[in-house]
Amino acid sequence: MNNQREKIGVYPGSFDPVTLGHLDIIERSARMFDKLIVAVLDNRSKKALFTADERVKIIQNETKHICNVEVMQFDGLSVDFAKAQGSRTLVRGLRAVTDFEYELQMAQTNHAMSTEIDTIFLTTDLKYAYLSSSIVKEVASFGGDISQFVTPAVRALLEAKYAIKED
Ligand code: PNS
Repeated sequence: MNNQREKIGVYPGSFDPVTLGHLDIIERSARMFDKLIVAVLDNRSKKALFTADERVKIIQNETKHICNVEVMQFDGLSVDFAKAQGSRTLVRGLRAVTDFEYELQMAQTNHAMSTEIDTIFLTTDLKYAYLSSSIVKEVASFGGDISQFVTPAVRALLEAKYAIKED
């Protein structure tokens, strides 16, 4: 059961796979809450490279050192998941102005659906401003060097996925 006084943040996303930009947001937002739940969307209608189980395991492995981070998967609305976990705060990263319109629309829709839920935005570190999981997958799929975008473990997993795909 959730302790009512515990401040819980929920960071929802696809994380297919988690990048250094996501990990930076996780590290920084974990400092703002008693517990941060990284919520991996298991969206069956959206084709993901990694299964939700794989994505959860990857993030668990990469956040082992942050003791107040929990990684879970969810299906459905982020606000419903946050409420079920006893959280009132969604966390999202903002990379650039181009993210803003979509993120604003999502935050406002979420707030309209659940007025008790707020979204807070952390601006990504400048060195990750251009980074996205899609771009990383694209580079990896052509055999490019992704070592500055993801951790060594994620890099190995991506390389293995694309090596298998080429067979
Ligand atoms: O990493 P992404 O793909 O940009 O994350 C998007 C995500 C998972 C946060 C968003 O698609 C989401 O919250 N999906 C769950 C369904 C939902 O709540 N939709 C309403 C948002 S307006």
